[in-house]
Amino acid sequence: KLPTVKNEPNFNYAPGSPERAALKKALAELEAAAPFEVPAFVGGKEVKVSGERTEQPMPHNHKKALCTFGTSTPELASQAIEAALAAQPEWEAMPFNDRAAIFLRAADLISGKYRAKICAATMLGQGKNVWQAEIDAAAELADFFRFGAAQVEQLYAMQPTENSPGVWNRTEYRPLEGFVFAVTPFNFTAIGGNLVGAPALTGNVLVWKPSPMATYSSWLVFQILLEAGLPKNVIQFLPCPNGDATISLVDRVLSHRMFAGLHFTGSTHVFRHLWQKIGNNINNYLSYPRIVGETGGKNFQLVHPSANVRAAVTGAIRGAFEYQGQKCSALSRLYVPKGLWEGEGKFKEILLSEVAKITLGPVTEFEHFMGPVISQASFDKCLSYVEKAKQAGGEVLAGGKGDASSGYYVEPTIILTKDPRSPTMVDEIFGPVLTVYIYEDDQFEETCKLIDQTTTYALTGCIFSDDRAATVKAGALLRHAAGNYYINDKSTGAVVGAQPFGGARGSGTNDKAGSMTFFTRWCQPRSVKESF
Ligand code: ALA
Repeated sequence: KLPTVKNEPNFNYAPGSPERAALKKALAELEAAAPFEVPAFVGGKEVKVSGERTEQPMPHNHKKALCTFGTSTPELASQAIEAALAAQPEWEAMPFNDRAAIFLRAADLISGKYRAKICAATMLGQGKNVWQAEIDAAAELADFFRFGAAQVEQLYAMQPTENSPGVWNRTEYRPLEGFVFAVTPFNFTAIGGNLVGAPALTGNVLVWKPSPMATYSSWLVFQILLEAGLPKNVIQFLPCPNGDATISLVDRVLSHRMFAGLHFTGSTHVFRHLWQKIGNNINNYLSYPRIVGETGGKNFQLVHPSANVRAAVTGAIRGAFEYQGQKCSALSRLYVPKGLWEGEGKFKEILLSEVAKITLGPVTEFEHFMGPVISQASFDKCLSYVEKAKQAGGEVLAGGKGDASSGYYVEPTIILTKDPRSPTMVDEIFGPVLTVYIYEDDQFEETCKLIDQTTTYALTGCIFSDDRAATVKAGALLRHAAGNYYINDKSTGAVVGAQPFGGARGSGTNDKAGSMTFFTRWCQPRSVKESF
């Protein structure tokens, strides 16, 4: 039996605390030593990729790079696949407790020895402030590894209940036959770790293409796994810039006969494209590949006339603007009843006065609620959607501007719209842009139906209500509008083991990271009947 696991408690980094001092030191050391040269890693060895190097800039200070990396070529991808396949028999044969021990040890390294460094890397490379880096790179990543081990143990214990005299029926949870391709995002260091960690825990071998915008923290996670005892050839690490180079790499990987699974978090567009490529190659594969993906979101908050307004405003601000709206779970459309909206002490007044207090600035200063968005492209997208909203008749109530001269800063932006199908109410922006729609107080059920009809991504959503009957009604009407649904809480912040995470419709395959069922996707069970 593995040790009992608990969620990793968060540090608060209070001024004067040893945690704060350690993190400041780690930030200073990383900044002084940057840019790091991140290699590829294939067949248990670092591989220096020749040719032009790509930079991973620091979003709060984009003239400076955190790391540089080369372009992993299709030829290197082929070598990586062969190395992974060669490693498979031994890794698969390792007793589960030994595999689990590696991940438990990695979790301890993350929450202990490397906590400051991995938080610092996430702050500098992905533009998270200290608390956002803490809940991601320290707590959630350690939780994924610890809970993952416990959940796989629980899964493996699921055995047939029927045996007759002289017969022993059992299920063996084999890994997939072939290799898993993990394509990981910039916005959560923890998600990158889990996308490789979950298949590896269940005995799979992997080829890992990290986001170019999170190359350094991904490399660090990989190094921690190796230090924890992961055999060197289980995961192959292939950094690559976006664009044609990635397309060639992906084409090579997805055309291999032993491609057995895709583990993806990123944009809906890319996921659909990969799925189509897999479909086009289906006759080449030994097995039907598992496809597990988490993609876009256009997450909602619905406020009922009975709601506690202050709680609902807090939920909206934290949901929409923490990490600059770049969580897949971030809030981007808010529905408020007319009776609560305008007037002294009402929703609009509190919302706007709280948003006016938000400060925006470098993540290294420890005092800003918001930092930069990830890239110039993201900056441009946010501001272009402000223009689209205006053209569609929207009113900018707060923010709407940005400054990308030193870091990619976009103001927390609130748009008021009369059109619930206007661009900023339906398109994913992935930035700090919140659009508000005011509904008539007696149109609550119609508003639930409207939300459902306009939900193409069904990732997260929340309702604030102190009326139990209304809460129940909304729960039924919005049943399919969110994979993670919160009652009187914000739309973000799913905790491993507590709120298994993932959405349906256009947002993904809803396999629920952070739960036991997630691991069924990485297993190829064998039923054995033994008579004696
Ligand atoms: N755990 C992250 C959230 O729910 C993805 O915001």
